[in-house]
Amino acid sequence: MHIGTTLTNYIIETQRSLPEATGEFTGLLNDISVACKRISDLVNKGDLVGMLGSADSENVQGETQKKLDVVTNEVFIEALTQNGHIAGLVSEEMDDIYPLPNPSRRGRYLLLCDPLDGSSNIDVNVSVGTIFSIVRAPEGKEKPSTEDFLQQGTEQVAAGYCLYGPSTILVLAVKGQGVQMFTLNRDFGEFILTRKDVQIPEETKEFAINVSNQRHWEEPVRRYIDECLQGKEGPRGKDFNMRWVASMVAEVHRILCRGGIFMYPLDAKIKAKGQSGRLRLMYEANPMSLIVEQAGGAATTGRQRILELDPSEIHERAPVVLGSRAEVDVVTRYHNEG
Ligand code: AHG
Ligand code: MN
Ligand code: MN
Repeated sequence: MHIGTTLTNYIIETQRSLPEATGEFTGLLNDISVACKRISDLVNKGDLVGMLGSADSENVQGETQKKLDVVTNEVFIEALTQNGHIAGLVSEEMDDIYPLPNPSRRGRYLLLCDPLDGSSNIDVNVSVGTIFSIVRAPEGKEKPSTEDFLQQGTEQVAAGYCLYGPSTILVLAVKGQGVQMFTLNRDFGEFILTRKDVQIPEETKEFAINVSNQRHWEEPVRRYIDECLQGKEGPRGKDFNMRWVASMVAEVHRILCRGGIFMYPLDAKIKAKGQSGRLRLMYEANPMSLIVEQAGGAATTGRQRILELDPSEIHERAPVVLGSRAEVDVVTRYHNEG
């Protein structure tokens, strides 16, 4: 029987079109896919292997960690630090960068990841995911420093996510090569290409925002959502639908499949905490923005293209407005007008 195109087949084929490719990129993507398969298995077994519930710890951002936050981070460290494809790792769950221990072989890439996204959903059996971003490591340097990770989103070599839902789906955007979806076949443990060159519909009638923050929103966001809610009778002239999963991976996946707009904007509550957004720039906003842009969508802070932000800290946050281009343009226009 025909197996189909595996993730490895696709990466090897893609790598052929990259100048100075050495096979290291293929190896790195393979390490990531092994980590995702392991996490898929743990998420799938859940309570059977004691994976649900909180750990007795907090991460650098003061958030209580779930057991799976801790375990998935360990899975990433184990899968990514053995084969010499990266020079260092940044994770939501680690305060500082993780340079590879001496004297291990260091690769030419740096990886930034959110090993378990949407962790508030894990105990209630709703979809969660993993997000990753790959940038180049500086050449000829013994050990990467924090600054080496602080590259603009436009510098990403590739980005992707893995969604642990009814199916496990890995979505990959290699820079300049579109967006592909691979579904895990559990019978023989391979990701198989199931949707090629995904394009986000330009128009949409579906928005995603956490409305419990409404009283804290800035005026342009208020205006946009208010107009959506007015439906056919309002200035937008169409009825909108709403979704909020609270797992960014699930929201972005829905938008890739059928269009939509996702917003986690800056608001007064976030500002009062001294933060610049809710979602993290380096391992949530940037990789998702690359994927969305390569699928024909748009991603801004409301004011500026996310991929052009200049990062100054590995855990910094950014406002996020992404999805179908026409709607993102409306929100961005309202911010610029206001
Ligand atoms: P994480 O679980 O990695 O901390 O990320 C959760 C994020 C994101 O996935 C989701 O869109 C958002 O937090 C949900 O926030 P609210 O709980 O404020 O709705
Ligand atoms: Mn997250
Ligand atoms: Mn997380």
